[in-house]
Amino acid sequence: MTKLYITDTTLRDAHQSLAATRMRTEDMLELAAAMEKAGFWSVEAWGGATFDTCIRYLNDDPWERLRDLKKIFVKTPIQMLLRGQNLVGYKHYPDDVVDKFIAAAAKNGVDVFRVFDALNDIRNMQRSMTAVLNEGKHLQGTISYTTSPVHSTEGFIDMAEELYSLGCNSICIKDMAGLIMPEAARALITGIKERIDIPVCLHTHSTSGIAPMSYQAAIEAGVDILDTAMSPFAGGTSQPATESIVASLAGTKRDTGIELTTLRDIKNAAAAVRCKYDCLIDPISVRIDSDVLIYQLPGGMISNLVSQLKEQNALDKMDEVLKEIPVVRKDLGYPPLVTPTSQIVGTQAVLNILMGGRYKTVTNEVRDYLKGMYGKSPAPLDDALVSSIIGSEERISCRPADTLGPIYDKMKADAESQGLIKKDEDVLTYILYPAIAPAFLKGEKKAEALPEAAPAAAVAAAPVDIDIPRSMEVEVDGEVFMVRILSVEGESVAAGSSEPGKRQTPHGDVPGGVKSSIQGMVLDIKVQMGQKVSAGDTLLVLEAMKMENPVVSPVDGTVTEIFVENGAVVQSGDVLVVVK
Ligand code: CO
Repeated sequence: MTKLYITDTTLRDAHQSLAATRMRTEDMLELAAAMEKAGFWSVEAWGGATFDTCIRYLNDDPWERLRDLKKIFVKTPIQMLLRGQNLVGYKHYPDDVVDKFIAAAAKNGVDVFRVFDALNDIRNMQRSMTAVLNEGKHLQGTISYTTSPVHSTEGFIDMAEELYSLGCNSICIKDMAGLIMPEAARALITGIKERIDIPVCLHTHSTSGIAPMSYQAAIEAGVDILDTAMSPFAGGTSQPATESIVASLAGTKRDTGIELTTLRDIKNAAAAVRCKYDCLIDPISVRIDSDVLIYQLPGGMISNLVSQLKEQNALDKMDEVLKEIPVVRKDLGYPPLVTPTSQIVGTQAVLNILMGGRYKTVTNEVRDYLKGMYGKSPAPLDDALVSSIIGSEERISCRPADTLGPIYDKMKADAESQGLIKKDEDVLTYILYPAIAPAFLKGEKKAEALPEAAPAAAVAAAPVDIDIPRSMEVEVDGEVFMVRILSVEGESVAAGSSEPGKRQTPHGDVPGGVKSSIQGMVLDIKVQMGQKVSAGDTLLVLEAMKMENPVVSPVDGTVTEIFVENGAVVQSGDVLVVVK
């Protein structure tokens, strides 16, 4: 065994986990100058959610960020997290977009590509992996780690072997939930290293408090690379601290060769940056969360559920939802819970409880999942269950992206006709985020202001269940919008930052009125005034909890009133449509 290598995640996962991915380019550049001297194996500094937040909130150009970082990181490889065929978005893109994106990322400075798929469906990773190899860059094939009756150490080792056979230069075990136990890490790393001879990396989160122990087991089993974050951005939902891991190995045969004194310079710079973002860091995310160990759910997912249930005024249903999640996950064939499957499973579990019946209301995402549109589920799906939900709709068994034709040239012409393109990469920004990119590319976006830091005492004194101003992310066609919700004395007023806001709708009993049973945003009205509908027909699609929820007619009849319009934010109990 030789020295242990470090991938430092401060510039990507650490602030994504702790500070809603809000670190600005200017702060990154400050840190990068100090980090370049450390001798890290790589710095994870791009991809994941950073691309999205750059253009949505920070008015930072992600491509310029990458180029600026590359000017500083001369010796240190820049690493990015790539969601396979989803790139840095939330849906599958056609192959031509995948090829162009990876070529542009490589050209602008990415040296190491960590490629994963939420379902571990290698078909969703293959196109991007080939593109990385064609660019001559380091390809890190990734296993999305989870535990379930159909996941095993042996199965993950087989996957590592397959990734190796496809040309991967290293393997990453990505434990996004912080669930890997020390003995599981030991068995997996030992097993992989017995079969293949390329570097193995372990990535986990400190959420459950187990991470440092699992790292120690991994070190003993011969792991080559560990993911850590500089201490001001370490711990809690982020990674274990770089300094601690480096110090623990000093003078041993696995010495990282990194000087603690060099790290102190980075730490001081990182501490100053951390001060700037303190107001964004929820104290809960820096604590050890033992619930993660009981429910086996990613920490972020539990806090998501709390905010979803709060929005639906149903926080008292939390226990029922936590019991429902394993049922839905089993029905969907045990997907690892990571973006986007964590939201798909979590939201369906919430709906099963709130709507008073399992799969009485099913999100479009679950339908698509059951149709095979996300790829192959780890365990086979139950045919009877699938038909009971999607009826005779077509199921696919091919690679999902095989159903997508090329779009790059058409989208490029489209963006050019709008005068959006100043450099080649702008086309990709537009394709990935067609709803928000135009304002950004036209220079109409303003950087979001950092909230004023509240005095610590005031934060501690605030009861957790009062209605404080909060926001909800809603997704429209794969684009996430932030909708701010301000509740005043039970009367809610909402304004979308990028979408039309709320319109008053009758709240109460209207004969023939079809009510919303959840709080959400009207995405797509499927009917017109005077239209005849049958019981079960979709009247409109409501976006709630990041998912699309069809609202169906309970009876045969005629649409006599439509009280809402696309983009309207509605509350539970609002009458949406009248069918008589
Ligand atoms: Co992570």
